[in-house]
Amino acid sequence: MENFEFYNPTKIIFGRETEKKIGKILEKNDIERVLFVYGKSSIKETGLYDRVVKSLQKEGIEFIEHGGVKPNPVLSHTKEGIEKAKKYKVDAILSVGGGSVIDEGKTIAVGAKTDKEIWDFFKRGKEIKKALPVYVILTLAATGSEMNGFAVITNEETKEKLSISSEHIFPKVSILNPELTFTVSQQYQAYAAVDTIAHVIEHYFSSEYCPNLQNRLIESIIKTVMETTEVIFQEPQNYNARAEFMWTATIALNGLTRLGIKGGEFPNHMIAHALGALYDLPHGACLSIVIPAWMKWYKDKNIAQFERFAREIFNLKSADEGIEALKAWFRDKGAPVTLKDVEIKEEDISKIAENAYSIATVWDMAKKYSLDVLTEILKNAND
Ligand code: NZQ
Ligand code: ZN
Repeated sequence: MENFEFYNPTKIIFGRETEKKIGKILEKNDIERVLFVYGKSSIKETGLYDRVVKSLQKEGIEFIEHGGVKPNPVLSHTKEGIEKAKKYKVDAILSVGGGSVIDEGKTIAVGAKTDKEIWDFFKRGKEIKKALPVYVILTLAATGSEMNGFAVITNEETKEKLSISSEHIFPKVSILNPELTFTVSQQYQAYAAVDTIAHVIEHYFSSEYCPNLQNRLIESIIKTVMETTEVIFQEPQNYNARAEFMWTATIALNGLTRLGIKGGEFPNHMIAHALGALYDLPHGACLSIVIPAWMKWYKDKNIAQFERFAREIFNLKSADEGIEALKAWFRDKGAPVTLKDVEIKEEDISKIAENAYSIATVWDMAKKYSLDVLTEILKNAND
């Protein structure tokens, strides 16, 4: 195994009705006033908004609302949140929602503590020195943002989708009640499954060496995602399936699966972010298009691992069979698997490749992922 450091300070509170504890948790942490960040409408429709407000009011926690976060959260709305956080001098951020709401909340947490231009932290990798504490109630299990130090924001003017990474933006506490995900649609469950699988296969395939413990942990995550998603499709209110899926999605990107691995990159996310930035497609849908195309391009660079994947996940022999089986599973769940599926034309490939290349330069991956390489991968995704 390679040397590693592991740090994950997020406290997880998991289980039924746990969202009711939010007021008490904040009060215990001496938080008096929060910026309450949420999405478009789901938390009001499900009644979660009312339960959160009740819990906050019971403990006398003041809250300033910052609703309307959109999927693929944008810089302009994030900046509005930063202004509110500063104006009302909030002590913490409370994000109630999926990855988009959590990521916008994390970014506001950074912006509230600095007078520097927030986009510079994304574009120029400016070091994050402090942030307000972030508290989370998760309503959509997918990104792992509830237990990691990443946030992804889209600059809608420049069409750039970039990320920050810092120890300061790990949520302090994340409440995970699987019941809150009962209302997640089949479509978003499919995207969530793709995203969770993506988080673990990036390193599984692209690293030079992956210890067996990590291989098996990753394979277990993939199998659990597939099994639980099948059940959720049949029974959206199956608690155990929602619960196992939720925790699986969390550990898929909380740092655990990467430990001791040599090398490894996030190329599928890099290309998917270009699609997200240009077409505002859901993150999981971008990944289900990119992954089979990237796998086809990459397989010969690590053929034994691709054969292992085919064998362990699908009981198949060859790398190609494994890739086709994964693609078929994505398609069967209703996720797009080609650019055509989302009506992106072949002539757009150069534009997508250029956008992905600009992310590659920020992520220090441009040597391996030249414009030609990115074009070749995207051509694999054409149909
Ligand atoms: O806006 P509302 O009305 O809340 O509706 C949302 C949204 O339309 C809805 N939803 C959420 N919980 C629901 C629900 N609908 C019914 N019942 C519920 N319980 O679902 C839609 C999608 O929500 P969103 O938060 O956008 O989805 P997701 O969790 O997949 O987050 C995607 C964002 O996270 C980023 C992605 O790039 C994308 O911007 N990622 C963040 C990562 C991280 N911070 O570690 C890593 C990932 O790789 C990813 O890049
Ligand atoms: Zn992802």
